[in-house]
Amino acid sequence: MRTKIVAGNWKMNTNREEAFSLATEVSGMLKNEQISAVKVILAPPFVHIGAVAQLLNGTGIGVAAQNCASEVSGAYTGEVSAPMIHSVGANFVLIGHSERRAYFNEDNALLAKKTQLALDHHLTPIFCVGETLPERESGKHEETVFSQLEEGLFILPDTLFSKVIIAYEPVWAIGTGKTASPAQAQEMHAFIRGKISNRYGDAIAQAVSILYGGSCNENNATELFALPDVDGGLIGGASLKSRSFVNIIKSFS
Ligand code: 13P
Repeated sequence: MRTKIVAGNWKMNTNREEAFSLATEVSGMLKNEQISAVKVILAPPFVHIGAVAQLLNGTGIGVAAQNCASEVSGAYTGEVSAPMIHSVGANFVLIGHSERRAYFNEDNALLAKKTQLALDHHLTPIFCVGETLPERESGKHEETVFSQLEEGLFILPDTLFSKVIIAYEPVWAIGTGKTASPAQAQEMHAFIRGKISNRYGDAIAQAVSILYGGSCNENNATELFALPDVDGGLIGGASLKSRSFVNIIKSFS
């Protein structure tokens, strides 16, 4: 059975107090409502990672960074490296989120480097893929996602690839209120798993968790999480409200 995962990407939101409250509320609800069958991960902004990791220590909730540098250390003003992130208590990192690809020009070659560095420094990459609206409308969505996988991830040897989590986030569904239909999500998740199977074999493909992201909320999560190749969600907006986020986590049937 694949690990069920729900990760909350807080993006560039929360001050220190809000980050503390949100993490405290989520962990309190998970404990009170005895939810333990789902791996829950919170991805706060860099400045809160150490404090949130400390607060969540011993709860089983994982902490992720939203990005990491493509170098380990040195004269890269403003950057934060994988070993730094791990040293303050995070165990996961989002790599290749569409906002990084779009606003910070991160390409597949750079993301391949970040993925390798994350794994070298004990961080589990949550590698994001997804097509834009014009790519979907012109029927190029599978081609786009395949090249993101091939160039960013399939460079890894089997032993490392099997540690990775994948998130499919169609760009047109992020923050727009337009969720992929269950048929669209299942089709793409099965496509991704098929490509993994071609490259790494079926045993590895069947074991990799593939999350859906893009306007996932407490009203549509049940339907999405019931799909055979959807193993959870990467949640943006709805992860900023503890009750909504925990309801999404409870959506696994
Ligand atoms: P929304 O859930 O706000 O659409 O964001 C999804 C996302 O980008 C998570 O990484």
